[in-house]
Amino acid sequence: MSQPINLQNPFDQKPLQATPGGLSANGTVLFPLRNGAYRLVEDDNYTQNFGYQWNKFAATQIDREQKNTQLSYNRFFAVTGWDKEDLQDKNILEVGSGAGRFSQIVLDHTKANLYSVDYSNAVEANFKNNGHHKDRFHLYQASVYDMPFAKGQFDKVFCFGVIQHTPDVHKTVQSLISMAKPGAEVLVDFYCVNGWWTKLQAKYMFRPVTKKWGNEKLLNKIEKNVDWMMAATSFFNRIGIGRFVNRFIPICDIKGTLPEGLSKQETREWCILDTFDMFSPEYDQPQKISTVKKWFEENGMEQVWGGEVHYDNCVAYVVKGIKK
Ligand SMILES: C[S@@+](CC[C@H](N)C(=O)[O-])C[C@H]1O[C@@H](n2cnc3c(N)ncnc32)[C@H](O)[C@@H]1O
Repeated sequence: MSQPINLQNPFDQKPLQATPGGLSANGTVLFPLRNGAYRLVEDDNYTQNFGYQWNKFAATQIDREQKNTQLSYNRFFAVTGWDKEDLQDKNILEVGSGAGRFSQIVLDHTKANLYSVDYSNAVEANFKNNGHHKDRFHLYQASVYDMPFAKGQFDKVFCFGVIQHTPDVHKTVQSLISMAKPGAEVLVDFYCVNGWWTKLQAKYMFRPVTKKWGNEKLLNKIEKNVDWMMAATSFFNRIGIGRFVNRFIPICDIKGTLPEGLSKQETREWCILDTFDMFSPEYDQPQKISTVKKWFEENGMEQVWGGEVHYDNCVAYVVKGIKK
């Protein structure tokens, strides 16, 4: 039997009830349920680009929609090392769920209860992808800093590809840890600082300008240029200088982040999505593994581990630990 999760208003710490109209206190709906998600915030916040991106490319990275790749499944189980059977009836918190590529893995492959939070209206894409899991799936549009749960309740907390996109990365980690119960595992994967060269790439050179463009303008420019950029990076890879030159071409890392086995059309779509994801976020603050490990240790975590996890042809930079 799973333990019920106590809902709590993050703005006044009073209890909330889930009702058909939304999250309520004393019979009044404070946070409406709209298109499958409880809404604690408006769409117009610093993550609006993600809302646009994930609703536009809602199915692109969802394993269930793929013929030849299982990248999300492979990443999820490589990074977590979790045993599917063990997760039955566990309460799992996912923060920054985007279009729900990892929500799908938890819901389709385990019998856990999943509480997913995203600050953007990407929750609508997630609901389209996973809303049929009516009993085990709970979806909230809320910030990691103001989540509608009493502290210390979750059996597992995971947050993939998100912390670098938040304004205060340390506070984000503290907030994630605060949601875990004693003995629970907390995991993050994130953009990593590997050395002085990490920021020497087209992304960090152009994003101060591109993040100010509207979503349509940025997407248009990427769509117009994606074909020559894909051709150029593949040419430089063929002649053996891709490692040095491709970082200056304003396109995502095709070799290091895209799954093998995609068709030409699918590769193009993944490239457009991942390139938009590079150039649109308000915040992009890669972190050293040692820094995130230190934050885990300083905030009540033990058995903290940080390092690279390899899966398919990709690598994830991970920190995980157990709440004391
Ligand atoms: C790069 S996407 C990753 C989405 C998903 N985890 C995945 O890997 O496909 C980052 C997500 O973090 C969300 N996000 C950013 N800041 C957030 C915050 N303060 N609270 C909750 N979610 C946030 C964004 O809206 C976005 O959907």
